[in-house]
Amino acid sequence: MAQVTGKIIGLGSYLPPKILTNDDLSKMVETNDEWITERTGIKRRHIADGVEDKSSTMAIKAAKAAVEDAGIDPKDIDLIVAASTTPDVVFPSIAVCVQEALGCSEDVGCFDVNSACPGWIAAFNTVQGFIESGNSKLALVVGAETCSNYVDWTDRGICILFGDGAGAAVLRAEEGKKNEILMRSSGSRGVCLHCENRKQPKRYDEEGFEQSTNFYMAGRDVFRFAITEVPKLIKDLSVKCNFSLDEVDYFILHQANARIIESTAKKLKIDIEKFPMTLEDTGNTSSASIPSLLSAMKKDGRLKKGMKLVLASFGGGLTWDANYIEY
Ligand code: ACO
Repeated sequence: MAQVTGKIIGLGSYLPPKILTNDDLSKMVETNDEWITERTGIKRRHIADGVEDKSSTMAIKAAKAAVEDAGIDPKDIDLIVAASTTPDVVFPSIAVCVQEALGCSEDVGCFDVNSACPGWIAAFNTVQGFIESGNSKLALVVGAETCSNYVDWTDRGICILFGDGAGAAVLRAEEGKKNEILMRSSGSRGVCLHCENRKQPKRYDEEGFEQSTNFYMAGRDVFRFAITEVPKLIKDLSVKCNFSLDEVDYFILHQANARIIESTAKKLKIDIEKFPMTLEDTGNTSSASIPSLLSAMKKDGRLKKGMKLVLASFGGGLTWDANYIEY
């Protein structure tokens, strides 16, 4: 029997209108455009107002755009999985918020996953599992983040990196090459990147508790982890799934830092042109970064049917995941 897989038939993204430039940041903390650009490649990021735009509402806007792009009736969707590390809702899930806002039927499975920045890949793989086992025919995969709520705006090592936004894809069951994946995690190495939940009232008097509810990042350790593990992950995926890196059209990497992406390209000996970037205009939008990049590439015509793509991300956990798909 022919292999059935989830083909991406629609993509959408949303960025809140407020833009914070590097020059704006230099008025808030001791930094400057030159330092941020040289160390990260980031020039500006979008910041949600927290009222109109929050993770759930940005997810809805990105999902609507993806559904419109796919040209489908939202009533035909049977599964919605959203990824977010910074949800505004504890429950219902962001996926259920999307289900309601899009006017989907009630015959829809809805839930969220949290895997920090690789969250969208985890959600994508989950959906592919449903589709490839015959349990879903038309699904939405969303990533939405309001990182600005969790950033310490007095810490120049952190606040320059992150931005807010959402991205989404519609996947339809079609005949095709199966989703190839490699997922890795290390709790013991996770100390370099963590964030505790704010809503723990019994701990409010604990020393350092409030600070621990901001993103904590040991920048150099995370950088070293990323430039070591991401190229290895991609190489191992190519061996596991028996494909040559030369036949890949694009490497869609988590948009955290241009230097991490450039180092990965160099280690893999692949032309940097094959590593598209949006981070200059968005900063690190965590689980929204990969679907937003795919959406931008579809809009500007770079993404074409049949292209071979490697998706790869890394983040808190630590977790680091990669996929090989045929678009
Ligand atoms: N502006 C000016 N100077 C700064 C800034 C800033 N924004 N931030 C730090 N500095 C200073 C430091 O204080 C330090 O000064 P010192 O030498 O006098 O002590 C100096 O610059 C060097 O600091 P480092 O932290 O060593 O700088 P580095 O070159 O490592 O760059 C950065 C920092 C950009 C954070 C880098 O480590 C990095 O990109 N790490 C990975 C971050 C990442 O990708 N995180 C997200 C991944 S996971 C997820 O998405 C949740």
